[in-house]
Amino acid sequence: MKELMQSLREASIKAINESDNPESIEALRVKYLGKKGELTAILRQMGKLTPEERPVMGQLANQLRAEIEEAIELRKTILSKAILEKQLEAETVDVTLPGEAQPIGHKHPMYNVLDQIKDIFIGMGFEIVDGPEVELADYNFTKLNIDEGHPSRDWTDTFYFTEDGRILLRTQTSPMQVHAMETKSLPIRMIAPGRVYRKDEVDATHSPMFHQIEGMVIDKGVTMADLKATLNLVVEKIYGDHFPFTEPSCELDIQCHKCGGKGCPTCKGEGWIEVLGAGMVHPKVLSGCGIDPDVYSGWAFGMGLERLAMGEYKITDLRLIFENDVRFLEQF
Ligand code: DAH
Repeated sequence: MKELMQSLREASIKAINESDNPESIEALRVKYLGKKGELTAILRQMGKLTPEERPVMGQLANQLRAEIEEAIELRKTILSKAILEKQLEAETVDVTLPGEAQPIGHKHPMYNVLDQIKDIFIGMGFEIVDGPEVELADYNFTKLNIDEGHPSRDWTDTFYFTEDGRILLRTQTSPMQVHAMETKSLPIRMIAPGRVYRKDEVDATHSPMFHQIEGMVIDKGVTMADLKATLNLVVEKIYGDHFPFTEPSCELDIQCHKCGGKGCPTCKGEGWIEVLGAGMVHPKVLSGCGIDPDVYSGWAFGMGLERLAMGEYKITDLRLIFENDVRFLEQF
């Protein structure tokens, strides 16, 4: 029995030391120490021994079990170390390799202009508000004092959703005036940038979808002079001191940056491009929103963002703003 144990010792230690992965070590543990394993098989023969021999053999068997277990643990530690080292070697990163430059995008030029305009108005204490592009005709027209016969209400000018003409794609951001007056407390200073839609043919200065920024002030004693001062400031800040513009009355034009005012396809021969409409808020609109026109007055404007961006960046065709050709966008 002693000899059997000695040969089991030699064979098992050799096999354990030669195994090269955690699974085969586990298999060896079962093979030698398991319930049906080789050591158990040897111990089954204890019955044949004399009572004096039994404890001696039992002790030897326990010792052998401990030796095999120790050899297994040692081999496992060595193997896991080797595996870790292999992995570290395989995953080594060469920090001296030059990086791969990733092309990154940047803000669209039109949004640069919008950000400039927002900054100017935030600096003057204006709030920036957002509103629906799908609008009620009531807000887009009626509450703005645009009567039933007005040409902009025509089906050839406006995208309507319903046959009764009640719901439409807003044609201007001016309905935001009414939303503001109906929901905010006075005084009001707000701008509302957003998309607007008209059944216009696409050309160098038109698109069926474009962006407008509505601006409005309602306060006591607001005058046309305030409007003029504000618009002068905005236009001067964006275009610099030398920019020629008309007196703000109800339309503000910028001199065509393509031809300098001589007339060309960009300005359709006019030398000027309209960038905004503006004026004093009609007393009827004020009272329609529950504001007393004898106490409050207001001015408002609606400026076309694409056309402002065209002026700022000397863009000669509005279509370039929407086409998003990277060769165009990369220039800004
Ligand atoms: N909503 C007008 C347009 O789309 C622009 C405009 C004119 C806005 C006068 C105003 C205003 O707020 O007072 O052409």
